[in-house]
Amino acid sequence: METNWDTQYKNMWDERYQKQGFAYGKAPNVFFKEWLSKFNPGSLLMPADGEGRNGVFAAELGWQVTAFDLSKEGKTKALQLAAEQGVKLDYLVGDFAELEFAPASFDAIGLIYAHFAPEKKAAFHQRLSECLKPGGIIILEAFGKNHLEYRQQNPKVGGPGIAEMLYSEEEIRADFKDYEMIKLTEEEVTLNEGRHHNGKGSVVRFVGRKPVN
Ligand SMILES: C[S@@+](CC[C@H](N)C(=O)[O-])C[C@H]1O[C@@H](n2cnc3c(N)ncnc32)[C@H](O)[C@@H]1O
Repeated sequence: METNWDTQYKNMWDERYQKQGFAYGKAPNVFFKEWLSKFNPGSLLMPADGEGRNGVFAAELGWQVTAFDLSKEGKTKALQLAAEQGVKLDYLVGDFAELEFAPASFDAIGLIYAHFAPEKKAAFHQRLSECLKPGGIIILEAFGKNHLEYRQQNPKVGGPGIAEMLYSEEEIRADFKDYEMIKLTEEEVTLNEGRHHNGKGSVVRFVGRKPVN
């Protein structure tokens, strides 16, 4: 059942995406672009894809993309971007907790700044893992636990102000414990992503492969 907090949170994203221009720009996230380009295209799930900059980029590379987000305004912008770039995106509007995906149905999952309520996060990772094929890849970039200090110094860098919504390497190791850890770091980066991610921040970067057996 949707709580008041859920409704306010969804409205916040709708208001952000109703504004002119693209909140995080039209260009894909740099880390996602670098890593996705290393793998052969297949089926890709893009949770919390917002205005679609990453899903559209993936579709341009030939991936068959299923994106979703809480925000219907995000969907409108994402389909606009997809049309501009001449690609197709399947985009569902809804909360991950309520969407159903078939088990072992995606070759890859891109999780880019998908910050979920702390009490939902581990279950969310578990369900994502279930819908990834054996041998499938997860590419994640999200603000890390060290980010709060950066945000305090420079609010323009964005990110959640709630420590529990930020990521840690330990959490990734625990939630994806059988995975091959191709890359896992928390590092300082300088972001230049639209209106909302600008300046130095601290991000967790993870590329993992689900075990085959
Ligand atoms: C910081 S934005 C990132 C958008 C996009 N991934 C990008 O990098 O441009 C976070 C997104 O997460 C979405 N989101 C948050 N909680 C969600 C949930 N439970 N289910 C689906 N989407 C969610 C928001 O609507 C928002 O679009």
